[in-house]
Amino acid sequence: MNSFHSTLGSAVCFATLVGPAPAQDLVVRIGHVGPLSGGYAAYGKDAENGVRMAIEDLNAKGMAIGGRPAHFELVSEDDAADPKQGTAVAQKLCDAKVNGIVGHLNSGTTIPAAAIYHRCGVPHITMGATNPKLTQAGYKTTFRMTPNDNTLGASIARHAAHALGVKTVAVIDDRTAYGQGVTEVFKKTALGLGLKIVEEQYTNDKASEFNAQLTAIKSKHPDAIFFGGLYSQAGPMLRQMEQLGLVDVKFLGGDGICNPDLGKLSGGAKVADNVLCTEGGRSIQRMASGTAWKARYDARFPGQYQTPSPYTYDATMVLVDAMARAGSADPRVYATKLFSADYEGVTGRIGFEPDGEMKNPPMTLYVYRDGKKTTLD
Ligand code: ALA
Repeated sequence: MNSFHSTLGSAVCFATLVGPAPAQDLVVRIGHVGPLSGGYAAYGKDAENGVRMAIEDLNAKGMAIGGRPAHFELVSEDDAADPKQGTAVAQKLCDAKVNGIVGHLNSGTTIPAAAIYHRCGVPHITMGATNPKLTQAGYKTTFRMTPNDNTLGASIARHAAHALGVKTVAVIDDRTAYGQGVTEVFKKTALGLGLKIVEEQYTNDKASEFNAQLTAIKSKHPDAIFFGGLYSQAGPMLRQMEQLGLVDVKFLGGDGICNPDLGKLSGGAKVADNVLCTEGGRSIQRMASGTAWKARYDARFPGQYQTPSPYTYDATMVLVDAMARAGSADPRVYATKLFSADYEGVTGRIGFEPDGEMKNPPMTLYVYRDGKKTTLD
C-alpha cells in the first residue's frame, strides 16, 4: 500500500465534501497551469480536467492533513503556451498563495516559470515539459513526471536507424525551447549512429504553412523528416507533405506530435501512417487501472480525453500525498517530502531523483495505423 493510501486510510472519513469548505476546514488550493487557449489547448484542457478530477475525488473521499479535515480547491490559469504569459500567471499563482502547482505543459513556459516558483517556494510538477534544461537549474521546487528529451529524442533516432533503416534525415524545428531542444538531441544521436542530416529548416510555433520548408526538403530526398514541434502544426505539415508528394518519407517526432487526433488533424492524410513518435509513460490501456479510470474520465468530461489527464491526476495526488506525510499543506514544510514520494498512481509508480527528475520513467513508441495512434510493440 502506498503512503498516500495508507495516510488516507487512517484519516477520518467525512461525508462527501464537494461544496464550500466548512469554516474549520483546512483549505488547500492546488494550482493548475497550461495552455487553455491556442493550438495546444486540447492538451491543456485535458490536463486541467485531470487535476479537477483528482480534487473532486479527494473531496468526495475526505481526508485530513495534520489532523484537520482538508478541503481542496482548484485555481487554474491559462499560459497559452507562451513564455511571457507563462511567467505572468506563475507570479499570479504565487501571489494567490496556492499550496502546490501542477504544470506547466510546455518547456517554453515551464523553464522560466520554474524560477518564479523557486523564488516563492511553491513546488510544481510538470508532466509535459521535456527539455532537459528544466531540472538543471537545481531548484528544489521543480519536479518532472516524464522522461526528458535526452531519452525521448534519442530513442526516436535509434529506432529510425535500427528498425526503420533510415539513413538520411531532414529536420524542422519550431524555435521554441521544446522544438529546438528535442531536435538537437535527435540530431546528435542520429549523427552518432552514422545518419546524415541532409537539410535543416525552421518555422515558428504559430505558422500553418510549411510549403517552403517542405519543398527545400523534397529536393534533398531524405528517408525521414524529424519535426521538433507540436501536433497542431504536425497535422497540417503532414497534409502538405502529401500534397507535395512526400508520401514515402517517415515523419518522426517526440511527445509534442504524439497526439491521438494527429490523423484527423492531418485531414486524413495517408502520410499520417508514416509517423513514429515517442512519449513518456504507457498507453492508458497498459496502465493497471487505466481503462477503469478512463471510463470515469469519459463520463465526467465526454470527448475531451487526450493524454495528459491521468498524469496530472496523479501529480495532484503526489502533491497531496507529500502534504499528508508532512502533516502540513504549507509548501515550506511539505516540499521536501516530494523527494521521498513513492506513490502508486493510475500511471504507475512515481518517485523522484534528487534533481527532480522522475525515477525510472516509462516511455512508449507509437505509430499510426489508418490514422489511429497505436503502441508499437
Ligand atoms: N514535451 C513538450 C514540451 O516540452 C510538449 O514543450
